[in-house]
Amino acid sequence: MTTRLAALRAEYLAGLSAYLERESEAGFAHAYELGRQAMADGMGLLDMVAAHRAALDTLVLPCPPAEHPRLLEASTAFFNELLAPFELSINGYRAALAASEERFELAISGAMAGLWDWNPQTDEMYFSPLFKRIMGYSDNELPNERQAHLNAIDPRDFEQAAQSLESHLTHRRVFDVEYRIRTKLGELRWVQCRGQALWDEAGVPYRMVGWILDITDRKRDEEALRASREELRRLSAHVQQVREEEKARIARELHDDLGQQLTALKMATSILEYPADGEKRWPPPDALSGIYGMIDELVRSVRHIAADLHPVILDDLGLLPAIESLIDEFSARYRIRVIRRIEAGTIDFNRECRIEMFRMVQEALTNVARHSGASEVVLEMLREDPHCIVRVVDNGHGALHDGSKGRHSFGLLGMRERATLLGGEIRIVTQPGAGFSLTAILPLASIEMKKAR
Ligand SMILES: Nc1ncnc2c1ncn2[C@@H]1O[C@H](COP(=O)(O)OP(=O)(O)O)[C@@H](O)[C@H]1O
Ligand SMILES: [Mg+2]
Repeated sequence: MTTRLAALRAEYLAGLSAYLERESEAGFAHAYELGRQAMADGMGLLDMVAAHRAALDTLVLPCPPAEHPRLLEASTAFFNELLAPFELSINGYRAALAASEERFELAISGAMAGLWDWNPQTDEMYFSPLFKRIMGYSDNELPNERQAHLNAIDPRDFEQAAQSLESHLTHRRVFDVEYRIRTKLGELRWVQCRGQALWDEAGVPYRMVGWILDITDRKRDEEALRASREELRRLSAHVQQVREEEKARIARELHDDLGQQLTALKMATSILEYPADGEKRWPPPDALSGIYGMIDELVRSVRHIAADLHPVILDDLGLLPAIESLIDEFSARYRIRVIRRIEAGTIDFNRECRIEMFRMVQEALTNVARHSGASEVVLEMLREDPHCIVRVVDNGHGALHDGSKGRHSFGLLGMRERATLLGGEIRIVTQPGAGFSLTAILPLASIEMKKAR
């Protein structure tokens, strides 16, 4: 027995003995003081019980049995008073624990997390009501069994989640996983699951506590962001490619078209080098008219190439005449009838929007020629305050979807880009066999000239 314990027993014996003699208030107060001191010295409740028991043996047993009830009652009162400091401290500890648990619950529920508490030895598991709600169940619908949650984990993510848990339990690595679950109604949701195990001295986990968080929205945003980055990347790669193709086409036209014509012109003019023989007119008139014809052809070619690069008519005459001339050329080239309903004369198109709108109509018509097999197109440009509506509808064989999912449909993607640039949007309605209808809805506010105030 340690000296401290022996001293406690001796003090207790003396204190109780004095109290049994007089049962005074001071003696009673001494019990409380003894208890407080014992607790401060690190004594436990069992030590106190042992001291009490030893004191009873010494003080009560030898007395006549008739006195026993009084002595025992007084001793019990004394002992209870001795225990008061212990009880107070246990109550305080309980209150502190309750407050801390409450804070934890609050913090967790503020984060909308569902709690779980698992006993790895019995496999019992507690799910909080919010946990069950995240899984799509009400509180009494989902049994408190681990399997109930395991069953809901998407097979694609199961292995990874299981491995992460295993590595936490055996190597104490951080347990923080994201996986998909099927809710009660079969909907797929993303959750983040974190937890912390507790291990006994032998290193065996005996409890693990954690929470899950519904991160479906975050995952959806991430996915949308990823998709839009990917789309942008493809668009910019495509822009590069188109530029290269454009340069190659111009080089080819310059070489084939202008180059050949210039060679022919050079040959035709070489005749002028021969001296006049004095009999015929010099230079020969048909040689000259041939040369003039070639020069005219050259001028036409240069105009054609330039117009393809940038429709000058757009700057000179404006959007509507440029579109009219585009339609004329389109009809003539592809033999597709175009019915026009252009009622946008009151719109004062600003400079920036002209090329964008022109290219949209150009791409839409090119698509009709390339993909639709249509015999007729209706092209509308209408003022419908506060918008300008541009619609190209063909009677061709349509398409399965609106082209937004096509990996290589950069024409429509580019059109959407242009529409977005102008603060508007593109809507497509099509079905196999039912034609293709493309509508650009553009706010007048961004396509009209700013009115001088
Ligand atoms: N007028 C149309 N009629 C039928 N299908 C069309 C029409 N316009 C577009 N499409 C479909 O949409 C797809 C995407 O068009 P687009 O983005 O311009 O790419 P591209 O013209 O380079 O194929 C086309 O490949 C075609 O399948
Ligand atoms: Mg196209």
